[in-house]
Amino acid sequence: MTLTPAFLDELRARTSLSALIARTTKLTRAGREFKACCPFHNEKTASFYVNDEKGFYHCFGCQAHGDAIRWLTDARGLAFMDAVKELADAAGMEVPAPDPRAQARAERATGLYGVMEAAQAWFADQLGGIEGAEARAYLDQRGVSAATAARFGFGFAPDGRGKLKGALKEFGVERLVEAGLLIAPEDSDREPYDRFRGRITFPIRDPRGRVIAFSARILGKGEPKYLNSPDTPLFDKGRTLFNFHHAAPASRETKRVIVVEGQMDVIALDQAGIADAVAPLGTAMTEAQLGLLWRLAPAPILCFDGDSAGQKAAVRAALRALPHLAPGRSLGFVTLPAGQDPDDLVRSKGRATLDALLDSPEPLVDRLWRHELDSAPRRTPEQRAGLRRRLLDHVGAIADPDVREQYRAEFLARLDTLTPQRGRAPFQRGKSPLLPRPTTQEARAVGRSGLDPQVGRAILHGLARFPALIGTHAEAVAALPLGNGPASRLRDLMLEAAMTHAALDPQGLATILANQGAGDLLEEPRLKRGLAFSFTRRDAPPERAQRDLVLVVEAYAARPELDAAYEAVTARLKVEFDEAAFAEQVRLRTAREEADRRLASLIVGDGVTE
Ligand code: UTP
Ligand code: MN
Repeated sequence: MTLTPAFLDELRARTSLSALIARTTKLTRAGREFKACCPFHNEKTASFYVNDEKGFYHCFGCQAHGDAIRWLTDARGLAFMDAVKELADAAGMEVPAPDPRAQARAERATGLYGVMEAAQAWFADQLGGIEGAEARAYLDQRGVSAATAARFGFGFAPDGRGKLKGALKEFGVERLVEAGLLIAPEDSDREPYDRFRGRITFPIRDPRGRVIAFSARILGKGEPKYLNSPDTPLFDKGRTLFNFHHAAPASRETKRVIVVEGQMDVIALDQAGIADAVAPLGTAMTEAQLGLLWRLAPAPILCFDGDSAGQKAAVRAALRALPHLAPGRSLGFVTLPAGQDPDDLVRSKGRATLDALLDSPEPLVDRLWRHELDSAPRRTPEQRAGLRRRLLDHVGAIADPDVREQYRAEFLARLDTLTPQRGRAPFQRGKSPLLPRPTTQEARAVGRSGLDPQVGRAILHGLARFPALIGTHAEAVAALPLGNGPASRLRDLMLEAAMTHAALDPQGLATILANQGAGDLLEEPRLKRGLAFSFTRRDAPPERAQRDLVLVVEAYAARPELDAAYEAVTARLKVEFDEAAFAEQVRLRTAREEADRRLASLIVGDGVTE
């Protein structure tokens, strides 16, 4: 459809931008403009301005900028045409129709929204009525609160073939069939009848929040567990994500969007305070759905069951994403314990466990690598060649040349570390002397007697420069294998200071330590040649230094456990070979190699420089 510039101008002119933005963001008047704390980035003082005369908003902090249409696409996640339609509806304008056929279709569809709304109201009524008792008990037993039930519009379709049909007869049978609410038997002598019978219902909405379909769950056991509306003029399940209309504004705040497998998972997460989740509708993720997700976040997180079905679905989505990857457009993966969905998990373990998992999703590159590594043995040259070919095939599917090149280089480097003859080139003794040497006697030494004192000092020096990180990564800091000497004592004092003082700055930390008679522990560490991290160098950008510091702390904190697990499984294999233990050993070895490679890549040059 082509929209003329004149039409769009008129649309903008008839829209009050401040009124539109004020629906979701609190504005205060500032002269001829309005201002607010920017909804696109976190800030405490307002640098987001809305100018009604010019019809645009601008943030001086993050440079977000746009008009009313842009606001709806960026802040609410609407598609361009949906944004135009929403504004046109509000302004009482007709969006010009492209051709008569499409117009007829659009009109038919428009009529159906009313049918769907009426059905939604009727289902919701039934849930509150006498027949809804069992359904109410079911929701109750699942722990769905009244507020959640209302927010997601739970309803009940009573058992019987003609109940909805009778209640909504004013719309006519043909409309109800077209809306997917009635099933029309092939045999035209037989009457259409209610599709949803004896089920809990909840509406599926489009990005603008309009009801376009229903999902209906059986009460208790039975087949099928979920029954969804068929595709209709309103509903194309491959282009729809459940809860998108709620998740879009939420993900603007969190800068994240989560994809789970089931609609009830979305609902459970929302009830637990995680509002930025969506679900496909019982089908594999489509490219259209990926496109929707990328409107909300650069790396949507797929949070699927660890069982084989869930993991197959995750890998399938990964492969489907490859052609569309771009700088700043990827996927992340969180693998849940097998047999657990997010609904089970928040119920049994609480929100914190899930938050922790969501905090560090596995990047797409790692997920693919792990998938291919796990999918076949690689003991022989032929098997390794097979692995290489499969990985490079995936690389070939990436359309963006820069991303493709990065994947190729990354996979080739990793493949190198697997080839026995070449060893672990980047981490051999001598090249980066202070890194734990992997998979050998020395690696064990890290676990047992703590990490190299020089690295320990470098880390403590970094933490003293960025004390805020001590509190936010307290668990990892506490787990650093620093032995029993002064380094460990300094770490303990730092942790205590961070726990008892909010907003600790370097000066404050130094004062506290001096008061404890530990000031001298903080002196600049002297490091060997060839060993410096960004966080020991004053000339490194602070964001980079902090990021690296967190990576190093986390990698070393996790190390002893990783080593112990590796040793345990190796010992087990010596006694008796078993396939599962062998797979575990391979996995642990890869994990260690990867950690080593990450650490090696963080070394930036010589010693401490001021
Ligand atoms: P699951 O079988 O994992 O169910 O299906 P669930 O989401 O955990 O449901 P509860 O917790 O038992 O209520 C995952 C998703 O697959 C689709 C639905 O979208 C469901 O949420 N599905 C499943 C269907 O479409 N039809 C079915 O019969 C079963
Ligand atoms: Mn479930």
